[in-house]
Amino acid sequence: MVGGLDVTAASLASQQLGDPDIDELLAFMSTCSGFFELVKGYPPEREDAAQLIQDRPEGLSAARKLLIGLRRDGGLVGVLEVLQGYPDPKTWYLGLLLLDPKLRGGGLGAAVYAAMRRWAAAHGARRIQLVVQEQNPSALAFWRAMGFREIGRAEQTLRTGSNRVLRMAHDFG
Ligand SMILES: CC(C)(COP(=O)(O)OP(=O)(O)OC[C@H]1O[C@@H](n2cnc3c(N)ncnc32)[C@H](O)[C@@H]1OP(=O)(O)O)[C@@H](O)C(=O)NCCC(=O)NCCS
Repeated sequence: MVGGLDVTAASLASQQLGDPDIDELLAFMSTCSGFFELVKGYPPEREDAAQLIQDRPEGLSAARKLLIGLRRDGGLVGVLEVLQGYPDPKTWYLGLLLLDPKLRGGGLGAAVYAAMRRWAAAHGARRIQLVVQEQNPSALAFWRAMGFREIGRAEQTLRTGSNRVLRMAHDFG
């Protein structure tokens, strides 16, 4: 189990992913190709998997960025990116929650998010923040259902262009 992320109630195990997991991560990302085409404009490449493992905001220590693999029966069925204490000490940032398309729509995303919120709250966080691309209305509906509200809009620059994103926050505790 990674830190305090207890997802056993959802029949999942959590494990931190690192450089040795790039090929397995890329294979999983490829099963979620629709998401990457929607937000990046192209199917995932090895460099995208490497970036997901390695990239973190300037000034955030490596120990506070976690790319977590969600496993069921050993297989990778989801990933969750967490930045602890970012952008301020009382906030945790959710960089990505991505589930196997076959497992979507059955309450798994809500269960994983609830586990993350409990973990963050146990470490003194009072807010979770994230961004959603304007062209991803299902994710927007999901995060609103989880209790998030819009706190602003921004432009996200990509290798292939740019996205308009909603900045969202969920305050608790
Ligand atoms: C977004 C995602 C993590 C949600 O997980 P999920 O398991 O599919 O969502 P859940 O079944 O737990 O949904 C919980 C609630 O969110 C809302 N919701 C979820 N998907 C929705 C959709 N497509 N349209 C409208 N509401 C939706 C509903 O209120 C739902 O509750 P209900 O089923 O009781 O009505 C998952 O669909 C996914 O991996 N999507 C692709 C990646 C992505 O867009 N990630 C978000 C960007 S960070």
